[in-house]
Amino acid sequence: MLTIDDLDVAGRRVLVRADFNVPLEDSGDGTRVITDDGRIRAALPTIESLRSRGARVVLVAHLGRPKGEPKPELSLVPIAARLSELLGVPVSFATDVTGTSAAAVVAGLGDGGVALLENVRFDSRETSKDPGERGALAAELASFADLFVSDGFGVVHREQASVTDVARLLPHAAGRLVLAEVEVFRKVLTDPERPYAVVLGGSKVSDKLGVIENLLGSVDRLLIGGGMCFTFLAAMGHEVGSSLLEVDQIETVKGLIASASAKRVELVLPIDVVVAQAFSADALHKIVASDCIEPGWMGLDIGPNTRALFASRLADARTVVWNGPMGVFEMPPYAEGTRAIAVAITEVDGLTVVGGGDSAAAVRLLGIDESGFTHISTGGGASLEFLEGRTLPGIAVLED
Ligand code: 3PG
Repeated sequence: MLTIDDLDVAGRRVLVRADFNVPLEDSGDGTRVITDDGRIRAALPTIESLRSRGARVVLVAHLGRPKGEPKPELSLVPIAARLSELLGVPVSFATDVTGTSAAAVVAGLGDGGVALLENVRFDSRETSKDPGERGALAAELASFADLFVSDGFGVVHREQASVTDVARLLPHAAGRLVLAEVEVFRKVLTDPERPYAVVLGGSKVSDKLGVIENLLGSVDRLLIGGGMCFTFLAAMGHEVGSSLLEVDQIETVKGLIASASAKRVELVLPIDVVVAQAFSADALHKIVASDCIEPGWMGLDIGPNTRALFASRLADARTVVWNGPMGVFEMPPYAEGTRAIAVAITEVDGLTVVGGGDSAAAVRLLGIDESGFTHISTGGGASLEFLEGRTLPGIAVLED
């Protein structure tokens, strides 16, 4: 896989696929405000390196899932503004993806200039299942550039025009972010220092089955919290009240528990949980043992004894991967589990990886010092598919 350092970019147009799929909310006056710019910041090293070497940088990215229809609320206008602030230089914005505005903006770029095209998913060909349609869009994008750089790690698991097809049309390389992400995930997948512990949370066990199956072949300890732990507790014969439960996954989870035991993986489940009478921050809540959840109560966080237990199983680990919050961290009464695990991971002396998505958002929302982790992934689905051991098309194409 070539990197941007292998490319001679001076005076050349470089199409960069970034992942600017960031959370936004309405400010009240009709404008959209970015609530977490982590993914924009993560793209800066690549953009700055290219600019400083005289490249003309054309950024292509998506926001949300507009299904091929332009939607004002999913415009990249706020992203261009934020990017310009962070870079400290103007960012020219094209109001279309490959139309007259895009052509004019690209033609107007000088050496070191930066342009951003409108949300590539406003063009239905981007996510088309038809390779011919995707190829046509990729050819239009490729006509704007001499080189292609893939730096949107969050989309490398997608077979999409601006991710894979365009890489087949232009000389290509991995950007700094994609390279850093791939290096860290390959390290944990193939050569983790031991003890190797993985902490999984989040709401649905069904989203993580592939990851768990793959990890059971390599981890020493698997710690499970979040909404998904209740399907594990139910599989062990415990009542879970009105907690989140995937009844159709109980048999599968029983198989995973047996497999963990056969492979001598230490499976660590909550011993106590914070239960509430409703899914609400002001609902009546209390701490109970995880095998004593009464009908009508729902588990919304791991309890204090579990926090201490999990921290003890992380303390001497040399590699830790964390994916998924331990509770409903957005509501203060149920945030302590996620906070405690995040802090415990920052105290680990070894390689620590936060697997993107909600866990990365939790780190920022809870104000945990980000420098305490070796790596916070920008990939949600992409990091999960990496941990499942799958081939990611957006990486494979760079290795061709
Ligand atoms: C993400 O948010 O995980 C990436 O931007 C990919 O988005 P997608 O799941 O809509 O393809």
